[in-house]
Amino acid sequence: MGDIVSYERIGDVGVITLDNPPVNALGRDLRAGIVAALDAANADPEARAIVIRAEGRTFPAGADIREFGKPPEEPWLPEVCNRIEESPKPVVAAIHGTALGGGFEIALAAHARIATRDARVGLPEVTLGILPGAGGTQRTPRLSGAQAALDLMLIGKPLPAERAQAAGLIDEIAQDGDALDAQALALAAKLAASGGAPRRTRDRREGFADPLAYERAVREWREKLAASPLPAPKKIVDCVEAALLLPFEAGLEFERAAFEDLVNSPEAAALRHAFFAERRAAKPAGIEGAAPRKVERVGLIGGGLMGSGIAISMLDAGLPVVLIERDQESLQAGIERIEATYARACARGRLSEEEAGLRLARLTGALDHAALGGADLVIEAVVEDMDIKRDVFARAEAAMRPDAILATNTSYLDVNALQAACAHPGRVIGLHFFSPAHVMKLLEIVVAKDTAPDVVATAFALARRLGKVPVRAGVCDGFIGNRVLTAYRQAADEMLEEGATPGEIDAAMRAYGFRLGPYQVLDMAGLDISWARRKRLAAHRDPGERYVEIGDMMCELGWFGQKAGRGYYIYEEGSREGRENPDVLVLIEELRRSKGIEPRSFTQDEIQRRILAAMANEGARLVEEEIAARPGDVDVVMIHGYGFPRWRGGPMQAADQRGLLQVKKELLAMAEGNPKAWTPALIFDELIKNGMKFADLNG
Ligand code: 3HC
Repeated sequence: MGDIVSYERIGDVGVITLDNPPVNALGRDLRAGIVAALDAANADPEARAIVIRAEGRTFPAGADIREFGKPPEEPWLPEVCNRIEESPKPVVAAIHGTALGGGFEIALAAHARIATRDARVGLPEVTLGILPGAGGTQRTPRLSGAQAALDLMLIGKPLPAERAQAAGLIDEIAQDGDALDAQALALAAKLAASGGAPRRTRDRREGFADPLAYERAVREWREKLAASPLPAPKKIVDCVEAALLLPFEAGLEFERAAFEDLVNSPEAAALRHAFFAERRAAKPAGIEGAAPRKVERVGLIGGGLMGSGIAISMLDAGLPVVLIERDQESLQAGIERIEATYARACARGRLSEEEAGLRLARLTGALDHAALGGADLVIEAVVEDMDIKRDVFARAEAAMRPDAILATNTSYLDVNALQAACAHPGRVIGLHFFSPAHVMKLLEIVVAKDTAPDVVATAFALARRLGKVPVRAGVCDGFIGNRVLTAYRQAADEMLEEGATPGEIDAAMRAYGFRLGPYQVLDMAGLDISWARRKRLAAHRDPGERYVEIGDMMCELGWFGQKAGRGYYIYEEGSREGRENPDVLVLIEELRRSKGIEPRSFTQDEIQRRILAAMANEGARLVEEEIAARPGDVDVVMIHGYGFPRWRGGPMQAADQRGLLQVKKELLAMAEGNPKAWTPALIFDELIKNGMKFADLNG
């Protein structure tokens, strides 16, 4: 059994304890240990029933994802589940924490399940591009019917214990961890006392009681998924359908075949990559041993769109916020913006009036910076202007406690320069939120030259508290995300100039998996935003750089996008759905003529290849410049801040999957028209010649 599974007898119940930190993932040793402990329990003449429980923070949170994509090692998880189910002595699963994926499948194979009130159970495999492969698709619907089983497996969200009980998936609830063990022992003893063979989940039919409802749930989900590019959800529906139609053993084989098809698919590899990349990004180097400072009160300077979103994000996490504005009118507008967001959440049923009231009660407003004196963290979210931000920083520093942290929510500006002007540079950091800040998950944590390690540690701890996905970024113009975005837009603009239309480029990127194409996003954000930045940078622009003027030409005409009713698309009054703007096509044509460019057509594949190469090249440069610590960090930023399809894994993972040699060739072809932008980063040759991928740099 080894160290990670132990067996003991308590009274006449054999207790198997799993102890494989941090999350009791079901790696080979744990699986082998469970089988050995089960054998021991069944061979123990004094044990009449068996309890499977776990030490540490959780019941198994799933198969060990690190084993996927490698040759499987026996005993396989489906076999372990079958052994549990076939145990001649009744088996009770005692669940605390989260029983997820294979962890919940073990519990489903047991003869009864008991969970603490705060436990959650789920089958989130779909989020990894696979399906429950240890009988979950066959056992769950036998207990809960198709609707609950499909919701659990296709939405992928764990259920609180009480809801799982209502769905027939849990038998008993225990008040807490202490009660769990005693109650599990009692339940096991009761099952043993009831005599006869244990009730096996494979033989249960409660979930099949209404075959018409079962078939309807299958049909409805199948229709909903018809347009999905992903294979896993469709196969889950097939498996749940098979549960009703096939004998159990055949259903298991059907599930196994589907699982094996999926586990080696590029989508599953990309989703696994995203899972681990997010976790690596949350643990940056350089802060080992640094204890985060306490953050119990937040000061926020600027209640505009960004500032109010940041405030909501803090209030949602239980943090009191004092909002500072320059005059009463702006302060009132900021507070009203926050109130309106909560009112909308209540109207949509996402939040109770009572909860909204509690959150708003944590908000205060002030005009005087002196109100920042009690804050542990102050964030400025004023306009993107270096002089204004410097001034705001100086006034904030004068009012703040010397140990409080001072953060800037800049998207582009030089945090080193802002820091250098401060009396306490070590406390200065960039916190780059994405709009709307209370919704978007990404938080770029910009570490400047003299930022103290415990300030960085505090920012990462805060991100976790806010439910954000943090990524460390170094200081440069645009940090990680906006640098890659600039390359994306440049590649798209060059194709526009060479013959593609905005509609074609947007359609190609939607087909790739983005929800919106680059020109739809520009229209939505407002073309004037990037125009202002281009004007700011114009004086420093290299005259040898290829520059596509189309955005400037449109802005000069006042075609700022959705808010102006006209941008790359035309928007009827009050509508966000645009139709292609024919006048833009005329402008582009003029531009081509003025530059002597003969237009040609682009296939969707070519558009996607060029954009992917552009993004991966910029990501590679960011890694070379140590702005991004690893390629995986670039992927996390693009997935959570810029709509890159998660199932493609981010631009660096997608480049790995396409093959770095192919991506480099693409870049060389693009570089003929713009060598400065598209000459491949040096790292390409380094990796290619060593037979490596970007993933090998993730550590
Ligand atoms: N396999 C391997 N490692 C895992 C893992 C898993 N299933 N789940 C979590 N881990 C690792 C994480 O990578 C992390 O490692 P690190 O410390 O080296 O970075 C560590 O465990 C802690 O994880 P988190 O940082 O995510 O801790 P949280 O407390 O925030 O969350 C959790 C805990 C809710 C359990 C979350 O980790 C989670 O959702 N895990 C994945 C659950 C899942 O998808 N299970 C299904 C797996 S597939 C499967 O079971 C197939 C089967 O049907 C055959």
